[in-house]
Amino acid sequence: MKFVAPSILAADFNHLGDVIEMINKSEADMIHCDIMDGVFVPNISFGMPIVQHIHQIARKPLDLHLMIIDPDRYIDEFCKAGASIITVHYEACTHLHRTIQQIKEHGIQASVCLNPHTPVALLTDIVEYLDMVLLMSVNPGFGGQKFIDNSYRKIGQLKDLIIQRNSKALIEVDGGVNLQVGEKLYNEGTDILVAGSLIFGSENPLKTIAAIKRL
Ligand code: DX5
Ligand code: ZN
Repeated sequence: MKFVAPSILAADFNHLGDVIEMINKSEADMIHCDIMDGVFVPNISFGMPIVQHIHQIARKPLDLHLMIIDPDRYIDEFCKAGASIITVHYEACTHLHRTIQQIKEHGIQASVCLNPHTPVALLTDIVEYLDMVLLMSVNPGFGGQKFIDNSYRKIGQLKDLIIQRNSKALIEVDGGVNLQVGEKLYNEGTDILVAGSLIFGSENPLKTIAAIKRL
């Protein structure tokens, strides 16, 4: 599958309503929201009130990427705020299976993210419970960073693991995606591409989203 998830982190927050309307009109499949706590990652972004506002006008599912420690504390609130998919970091969860169950109890999709240094094999005993796996292709915390080449290799490994464990998880890749990188990622088996600065740094975000869909 070739899905696109614009990351609004790179968008103009003075005009957030217009940004969401643009995504509504676009060929994007979901809206990627980066939640950062200043502890798990060295940056702070936004929380539930903003997610709630986005949810009020969004006509695409909200894909929440939680870059926060101990996410169990906030899953219920983010669900209430309108999440359709919640991704937690493998590195931030001590009882990952419980966290995944907590997300699923809300009837929404559950996903786990791996940092660039975290091996795919660590998902062996959880992947069958997941709707999506997010592979970070930069160190989380900031938009506009350079894609880490090792990420290509992890897609093949993850695909094999998904088949081996009879999982239905989709593969999402996040960080440093440009059109060239994106094409390669889709060819390697990525289902969902996250793109921030590629879309919102371009002259015409609507056209850039369409260009990613056509890769
Ligand atoms: C980084 C975030 C990404 C980021 C991607 O921590 O998880 O979603 O917004 O931005 P680009 O596409 O600019 O690398
Ligand atoms: Zn993200």
